[in-house]
Amino acid sequence: MERQEYIDFILDHYNNPRNYGALEDPDILVNGGNPGCGDVVTMYVQVDAENRVDEIKFEGKGCTISMAGASLITEWVKGKTLQEIEEMAYAPIIDQMGQDVVKSRLRCATLGVDTLKGGAREYPSRHALGQKLIQPIVLAHTLITQ
Ligand code: FES
Repeated sequence: MERQEYIDFILDHYNNPRNYGALEDPDILVNGGNPGCGDVVTMYVQVDAENRVDEIKFEGKGCTISMAGASLITEWVKGKTLQEIEEMAYAPIIDQMGQDVVKSRLRCATLGVDTLKGGAREYPSRHALGQKLIQPIVLAHTLITQ
């Protein structure tokens, strides 16, 4: 793809985020933030009996690339196991968004997937105790309503 096509792809995800919103009763609710800029993303995941992503949504407030990256990753992980998410490489995400376009903004591009990986990593130990993984959602919701 040409550089402009990558930019159009990113803008489309930013302007029409896929799977945007909250899940009512998620198994996993995790927040991620980029301390350098204060941008935040919240991932909501429903997990099935085989530890696969059954449903996923996200909310957030951030730059174009971070929100597009979060939107993109929600499309990619449906049906994947939490282990597969943990092991997921960054390269395909960077490639999909255009290496040239995002190479100086890698923390933005990976904010969504990193947040999700954190949840995938922590959830099994909570689940073993019969618990969900629910983090406070103060940041994201506070910022979204501004
Ligand atoms: Fe904050 Fe991109 S500038 S995540």
